[in-house]
Amino acid sequence: TSAAAAERELAEPYLRQVLDTAGLAVEYVRAEGNTLYVRDDDGAEFPVADFAGGYGSVLLGHHHPEITEHARQLLAEHTPIHAQFSRHPYANRLAAELNRIIARELADDEPYYAIFGNSGAEAVEAAVKHAELDRGMRVSELLGSVEAGLAAARAAVADGSATVHGEAAARLGVALAADGTEAVRLLEAAIRRRNDETVASPPLFLALEGGFHGKLAGSVQLTHNEGYRLPFKSLAAQARFVPQDSPEDLDAVHARERRVLLGLTAENGRITVTEHEFPVFCAFLVEPIQGEGGIRVLSREFAREIQEFCARIDCPVVVDEIQSGMGRTGALLASSRIGLRGDYYTLAKTLGGGIAKASVMLVREKRYRRDFEIVHSSTFAKDSFSSHIALKVLELLERDGGAAYRQAEERGAALRAKLDALRAEFPDVVADVRGHGLMQGLEFHDQSDASSPELRQIARSGLFGYFLAGHLLRRHRVRTFPTASAVGTLRFEPSIHVTDAELGQLYAGLHDVCTLLRKQAGDELTAA
Ligand code: F0G
Repeated sequence: TSAAAAERELAEPYLRQVLDTAGLAVEYVRAEGNTLYVRDDDGAEFPVADFAGGYGSVLLGHHHPEITEHARQLLAEHTPIHAQFSRHPYANRLAAELNRIIARELADDEPYYAIFGNSGAEAVEAAVKHAELDRGMRVSELLGSVEAGLAAARAAVADGSATVHGEAAARLGVALAADGTEAVRLLEAAIRRRNDETVASPPLFLALEGGFHGKLAGSVQLTHNEGYRLPFKSLAAQARFVPQDSPEDLDAVHARERRVLLGLTAENGRITVTEHEFPVFCAFLVEPIQGEGGIRVLSREFAREIQEFCARIDCPVVVDEIQSGMGRTGALLASSRIGLRGDYYTLAKTLGGGIAKASVMLVREKRYRRDFEIVHSSTFAKDSFSSHIALKVLELLERDGGAAYRQAEERGAALRAKLDALRAEFPDVVADVRGHGLMQGLEFHDQSDASSPELRQIARSGLFGYFLAGHLLRRHRVRTFPTASAVGTLRFEPSIHVTDAELGQLYAGLHDVCTLLRKQAGDELTAA
């Protein structure tokens, strides 16, 4: 019957059940500022302090009045929202404004071209696609110069100014023909065979252990979490994951994976085999502060090492600012604070002001390939609604000399002080506190061998932080989540409007959690 059909749960019912076991499957009925509202059994609304912050998309708060008003106005004016393949002055303004801010933060005015998208993962995939287009073009240029070398060698043999020796033949594993023209033809054939094989091999990406760059077919291969990545391994090019703060591993992976194209040159009357570094690596993806991986701040030192390594091997750096960017750490780009310069940047989440779905991939002029504009697009990207909303977001961030950035810093420091106090009081329970600005994480010690059977069980379930979050929601009306790839870490990404009272509420909730963990009162912690 239709009534039964209406009742049947078909929109990810299993996920809802999993959330339910941790007490997190509540329905939020209203949202404003830093607060989400739940309706209790009597139909009355009660507030929940939101420290999940739309997974980072509502830095300016839920339904920021000016953003909401701007949206209303756009709709009232019947602004054309979907007018693809026309002039998009609003998108151009948005790109210009992003550039103005980035030039200020980097103290460098090399422009970045903007390709808009709808989600974070889409921006990452656009960056990767662009990097691959660029790599392919660089490979073509390289093959062109290899071909020129082969032609010159052939000509030198033909006019007698150079001869083929056994060395070159042995190097390529071919027999040395008696006739010079035939000998050079055999060398060329061997070189082309080897080069074709190299050119046809898929590129490799470099990324950091713990990194998260999305869950689409391409981007999930750049995301370290094996649970997300491995089932889809055969769908896309692979990444090599490098541990943080380990420059030796960068060199080791390069030494292991590097490849060369071969060529010929006529030198001192001899035909010699030449080697040309082949661009194996398409891009190096890095988050200035890892979000999903457990709120891990990239050190200035390792950022410099990555930068120098990538310059050495001519591999573009994609700085994924999807979670860390848009003002969360007190700057548009968190990477600008540690001196990391991207060939590409990705931004999303708060770019849409909490109401639009928008992302952008930025690529510096030096690397830009305009042909990309012809081959990449989406029905929904670069629409006027999300572009106008994003412009409003930038206006709000930049207003009053950047008061919102300072507020993110100040509120972040206040939040951090609470977390540090907990760590100081509960060193036996809290392993670490990390982050910057309004991107903070609190890591608990592993409870897999806890004396409490309930704690042991939830620690081994892979849902540890979700159960803590359930307790915080039920008992303290605080919404937070663990970082998905490191569930022993709770993350806090409230809006810049988070009040001292809400920070106090969070502190009280976490104090309760820490007390229960210290007492090994697993039953109380997991009781519905
Ligand atoms: N890159 C980073 C650094 C992210 O944190 C995310 C999403 C993405 C890319 C993908 O963006 O979801 O819009 O496709 N992080 C979410 C989170 C899932 O839990 O913080 P998306």
